[in-house]
Amino acid sequence: MPQIIDGKAISAQIKEEVKARVAVYRERGAEITLAVVQVGNDPASSVYVGNKKKACAYVGIRSLSYELPEETTEEELLALIADLNSREDVHGILVQLPLPQQIDEHKVICAIDPSKDVDGFHPQNVGALCTGEEGFVSCTPAGIIQLLKRSGIVIEGRECVVIGRSNIVGKPMALLLLRENGTVTICHSKTKNLKETAKRADILVAAVGKPRMITADYVKEGAVVIDVGIHRNKDNKLCGDVDYESVAPLSAAITPVPGGVGPMTIAMLMYNCVEAFRFREQDR
Ligand code: GUN
Repeated sequence: MPQIIDGKAISAQIKEEVKARVAVYRERGAEITLAVVQVGNDPASSVYVGNKKKACAYVGIRSLSYELPEETTEEELLALIADLNSREDVHGILVQLPLPQQIDEHKVICAIDPSKDVDGFHPQNVGALCTGEEGFVSCTPAGIIQLLKRSGIVIEGRECVVIGRSNIVGKPMALLLLRENGTVTICHSKTKNLKETAKRADILVAAVGKPRMITADYVKEGAVVIDVGIHRNKDNKLCGDVDYESVAPLSAAITPVPGGVGPMTIAMLMYNCVEAFRFREQDR
């Protein structure tokens, strides 16, 4: 039987650690504040944003909510970001993605003050990750590193294969595994011999966005399998990018869906908010 990597328990542990740090700052009269911006009312985004605000309340971070209509212009959104950038009482800014098509996502990400970019999407923070400097790291891949470390899984010297090259998950995941001294391969839709390459992995991260695509043929016996996907099947049941039933028996450790990677994203967002505050204090 594989080790089931318990994202629910590990994310709860991180939230408790964050809560304790927040309490120390609160005793000094500081109120850590996250501005959460949503444009339009995409139902999935509304659920994510709601959960982020709930987590803030739980750990003691103040959240400011900006719910803008679907037809908001790029100029209007950029004006709000400029205002939030200039506010001394706002420490973190999160603009929920995706944005409506009239708004250029890249422009919006670049407009956020890198020192308030708790999503870690700004090119300055991505660059810092690349060169090994201090900065914010994208929450989902940062959460995966925590899952591995807190489950006692060694990264150093191991073959790590990441399937997927998105800016939010695949690319920062590869950089983080490299920072932990893994030997890293990134695969994507144009990769030849995907199965053979994936089968080399001691640690396989699946972020393909296709339900149950990663079957036993992609996985070496004894591999650690991290499933970033979350999909709903015909019966309204949740499943990941990994075909759990066929892969779990041959893996050494695996993340379930739900209850694996999913809960880590928000826990790391809370962590990044406290870091945003700490960076600010440090610079005073
Ligand atoms: N949309 C999907 N995931 C994320 C995330 O981590 N942050 C933001 N801002 N939007 C997202």
